[in-house]
Amino acid sequence: MKPHFLNHQAQTTPHPLAMEISHAEGSYIYDINNKPYLDFVAGVSACPLGHRHPKVVEAIKKQVDKYLHVMVYGEYIQKPAVELTTLLAKHLPSSLQSTYLTNSGTEAIEGALKLAKRTTGRSEIIAANKAYHGNTMGAMSVMGFEERKQAFRPLLPDVKFIDFNNEDHLNNITNKTACVILETIQGGAGFIEPKNGYLEKVRKQCDLVGALLILDEIQPGFGRTGKLFGFQHYNCIPDILVTGKGLGGGMPIGAFTASLELMTLLQDNPKLGHITTFGGHPVIAASALATLKEITETNLMPEVIEKEQLFRTLLVHPLITEIRGIGLMLAIITPSDEVTNNLILKCQDAGLILFWLLFEAKAVRISPPLTISNEEIEKGCTIILEILDQLHTSKNQSK
Ligand SMILES: Cc1ncc(COP(=O)(O)O)c(C=O)c1O
Repeated sequence: MKPHFLNHQAQTTPHPLAMEISHAEGSYIYDINNKPYLDFVAGVSACPLGHRHPKVVEAIKKQVDKYLHVMVYGEYIQKPAVELTTLLAKHLPSSLQSTYLTNSGTEAIEGALKLAKRTTGRSEIIAANKAYHGNTMGAMSVMGFEERKQAFRPLLPDVKFIDFNNEDHLNNITNKTACVILETIQGGAGFIEPKNGYLEKVRKQCDLVGALLILDEIQPGFGRTGKLFGFQHYNCIPDILVTGKGLGGGMPIGAFTASLELMTLLQDNPKLGHITTFGGHPVIAASALATLKEITETNLMPEVIEKEQLFRTLLVHPLITEIRGIGLMLAIITPSDEVTNNLILKCQDAGLILFWLLFEAKAVRISPPLTISNEEIEKGCTIILEILDQLHTSKNQSK
């Protein structure tokens, strides 16, 4: 398979991990030699219930037996999408009651930015340095990492950048600003949480100048931080909430949610202000609905905080300088890129999946399924500590 993979499936890096998958179940992924790998990454936070959760698989199978794609987004009443958006509304504040379902996170970001421009009649967008919101042109325009977007310029005009958590920069938000877009917890930057009431202050400034606040919850959303949405930790309700990844329960999805009043603006002037063929796909919506029910109707969210504590208690080592993040959105920070790379690659050989973060080369991602057991956490952390011991010994010997 590998030559075909490298030659015919377009690649994103010269060094893909290139593990050939046979199947996956619960917290484990199996390669074609049937070697199990304990999954501490969960498809980069996209599999909150692990792999092939029985309720998700059942919901998908049931829907496959009824109908697949029947019509472009929004025309017909399709039960899975209606039930999903209704259940989401039940778990969201009264100002976030209408959800537009998309095919991916980046596409939801595009929709959110368009809605902010259409609502305010303004064009200026304020985003954060080191932010990641996706890879299409609009989302890339609000990515705070010049090196990765230079080659694709010109991008959207009228985008300004501020430093996340820097209150002094908030006076850049003015009556010219259509929206401020932030990740509730910065992901690619290294799992950076908002500090000292930062989001509340952003919210206040937006209200003062009539700008909309978009919060990107594509990573922290759906229970990963111990609450259904990250913003629930910070006393700040966005005007537009963007979600994706974990919502799909392992299927491709994105969504942006706003008030019915705002969302209605996309129907008119111009009409068909945001359209998609496959958004709200019935099989994917059925998977998302089963996932949302499982997360909200079980004890998974309170358990996330206990599991975070277990990780923090176990992961103590001279080569771990810090553990960032909240809930099961954790990043181990090591002293160097080299330690991080070695740790991730050697853990994979030892049967544990870890991964990098986009813009912080010293960080190691730990975002396991929310369903991971305490025994599995202990097993994975033992592997991490053993590999770190090896790296520590060889580092000391080479001194
Ligand atoms: C915070 C954040 N926003 C947006 C996206 C883009 O989502 P997608 O890859 O589904 O387009 C991601 C994906 O990693 C993300 O982490």
